[in-house]
Amino acid sequence: MPHPRLFACAAACVLALAAPTLAEAQGAGSTAAASQGVAAKPVWRAVSFTTEAPAAGGLLVLPLSSEADLATRAASLTEAERAALARALGSADFSYDARKTLSLRGLGAWDMILVVGLGETPLAKTYQSAGAVAGRALMDEPGAVTVLAGGLPAEAASEFAIGLGLGDYRSDLHQAKARARKAPGAATLVSEAAAAAEAQYRPRGEAIVSAMAWARDISNEPANIVYPEVFVARAQAALAGAAGVSIEVLDVPAMQRLGMGALLGVGQGSERPPRMLVIRYRGAGAPAAPVVLVGKGITFDTGGISIKPSTNMGNMKMDMSGAASVTGAAIALARARAPVNVIAVAALAENMPDGRAIRPADVLTAMNGKTIEIVSTDAEGRLVLADALSWVDAQLEPAAVVDVATLTGAVRQALGDEYAGLFTRHDALADQLEAAGEAVDEPLWRLPLHPSYGSDISSTIADLKNGGGEGAGAGTGAHFIGEFIDPDIPWAHLDIAGMAYGAADDMKPAGSAGFTVRLLERFVRDFQPIAGPET
Ligand code: BES
Ligand code: MN
Ligand code: ZN
Repeated sequence: MPHPRLFACAAACVLALAAPTLAEAQGAGSTAAASQGVAAKPVWRAVSFTTEAPAAGGLLVLPLSSEADLATRAASLTEAERAALARALGSADFSYDARKTLSLRGLGAWDMILVVGLGETPLAKTYQSAGAVAGRALMDEPGAVTVLAGGLPAEAASEFAIGLGLGDYRSDLHQAKARARKAPGAATLVSEAAAAAEAQYRPRGEAIVSAMAWARDISNEPANIVYPEVFVARAQAALAGAAGVSIEVLDVPAMQRLGMGALLGVGQGSERPPRMLVIRYRGAGAPAAPVVLVGKGITFDTGGISIKPSTNMGNMKMDMSGAASVTGAAIALARARAPVNVIAVAALAENMPDGRAIRPADVLTAMNGKTIEIVSTDAEGRLVLADALSWVDAQLEPAAVVDVATLTGAVRQALGDEYAGLFTRHDALADQLEAAGEAVDEPLWRLPLHPSYGSDISSTIADLKNGGGEGAGAGTGAHFIGEFIDPDIPWAHLDIAGMAYGAADDMKPAGSAGFTVRLLERFVRDFQPIAGPET
């Protein structure tokens, strides 16, 4: 669909595309393909599904809930192999709990057999996480992989295959071994339901795997390599040629014309200019009203003049995880040609201390005309989101708006790394987001938007201030953001500061978790229109 601002975009796009080339010229260490957003080489296994019994040899993966499963799951193995497996499982006292593994060598003609537990009552997400554990365990095995999925539903085989790809993710972006890496052997899933599993995996599962890798890569990239213009260029590259997609980029003059003083204020302390990226994707047969996803995209958060302590400041290269997730979800949906109408908005800026940076006590004017007293330049996420939501409110007629942000340390104090914080005044929207999170194992915990948070952020010089007292830090931030969208529009805020990244575990390496890419993909596909506010 043509849009009036596409012309303004064209100029900004040219600039944006030139930027990464410059970074390469400066020897930033990234390959040409990587800096344009396309992985240099396939990093996960090519997947296929078959009903044919496998030829023995190579790596075998065997997902099991119990020893009794061997009869169906491993029907294509020999009687002797099944008996040897049963003996090995018994002598190892294997628990069959979800994500537990047992690796066996020297059994039959197989180089290695990896048994993965499924627990007693596996769900779709259990198969996906078991697949991820297997994918990660076999990451350094170059050979082909056979997965025995006999007796499992088609969805289980497809989810396991998605997991294999997700688990195969590496964050060693700038190591010599990453550049030298060869494509690993293929993965073949053996199942009577091969055709149905294939239909579920392609294109949707494949799109989720590649979009998750995109989101994790861009989050893991340091801020000297990924800054607002590069984020835009990589999103454009990831969506090049995708049907139903149009991309709009607001550069600094465009944002000045619109009066986006809050987003521009955050960006003005950096040598790297801010951007607002808008990705529209409308699939065939999709509804007229879009679901709008808005992401905080601070490519690095030093805190600005209210500078952060140096310990762990490097993690703030991932302060654009919200923007990465909303963009990743749009990539997943567009690549899968999902029948949805979605718009992803990334509010991109770098928060730096500088002679031109905003100061505490400065007053900024957002696009909706509200004035903001700066209490802390480190409460910058809500500032960029204020203008992004004002823009959404003024320009779009959304069915719902969900913003995603690494917004506050306070949400980690409240919920740790078990849940992201969910804030909304619309119960029906909360239900749909919680259901999506539950389905994909990205849990949300709803926290209040108490009216008193409004008085916490009342200012004596401006309409509101960007930080409150000692109280509910995550709630105050959420309340602030809500001031920039019409209360009749169903809106929710996800504070993912505790979930966006973390240490390595059995499913992922250290760094970005790509948190909410899968949640948002699920949410947008299942979205049901929401009635007016209930509170
Ligand atoms: N990006 C941070 C929040 C954050 C903290 C994300 C830890 C991930 C891990 C955000 O911009 C910030 O600095 N928030 C302040 C807000 C305060 C100044 C009102 C915070 O949480 O301290
Ligand atoms: Mn900050
Ligand atoms: Zn931040």
